[in-house]
Amino acid sequence: VKTQIIAMEKHHLSDVIKVQKATFTEDLCEALDVFQNRIERFGQYYKVAIIDDSVVGYMICFPWTLGDTPINNEKFPENIPQPNCFYIHDITLLPQARGTGLAKAMIEESYKMARELGFSQVELVSVSQSGNYWDKVGFEAYADITEKKRASILKVYGEGARLMIKEI
Ligand SMILES: CC(C)(COP(=O)(O)OP(=O)(O)OC[C@H]1O[C@@H](n2cnc3c(N)ncnc32)[C@H](O)[C@@H]1OP(=O)(O)O)[C@@H](O)C(=O)NCCC(=O)NCCS
Repeated sequence: VKTQIIAMEKHHLSDVIKVQKATFTEDLCEALDVFQNRIERFGQYYKVAIIDDSVVGYMICFPWTLGDTPINNEKFPENIPQPNCFYIHDITLLPQARGTGLAKAMIEESYKMARELGFSQVELVSVSQSGNYWDKVGFEAYADITEKKRASILKVYGEGARLMIKEI
């Protein structure tokens, strides 16, 4: 099998949404208009994972502010504060594409883009469906989180959601 990580383009969106629906619990899914806004704003950083000629996964990531998160299933705010880290918003693979190295390859791509932008930290919200995956990959709970932000993350991303960070 031929595996590839390539740039996400608008024509991938319908496949990307199918992968999203197949791999994320419904409360975490984002609507088409939110995806369209995401790709218009920071699409140059997004990737799709391909096996043979099919989209089997994707990663949505962008420059963001440490200690903060975008709101799931909400368009980006008009004014984004000065970024100081790279943020992985979504990374997912269809079950048949797991254990193939594609997840690691996409995560490595995010570190590469982060470094190119001059950042030394990658941040994400670990959701309960991903278990301890992010701990295994070397992420740690972000200590400087405000109580207000912690409460908002639990509300938006569900019980067990944790803001995590990795030095790269
Ligand atoms: C997260 C994900 C992309 C990882 O891809 P993958 O191909 O399974 O990753 P790897 O093969 O590199 O897995 C590394 C290890 O993490 C483990 N792992 C993967 N997903 C896990 C989960 N949900 N809970 C606990 N462990 C998990 C694997 O079993 C493997 O363990 P091992 O090394 O002891 O065998 C994939 O599991 C996935 O798409 N999950 C659904 C979407 C999701 O939850 N995304 C993360 C939230 S943004």
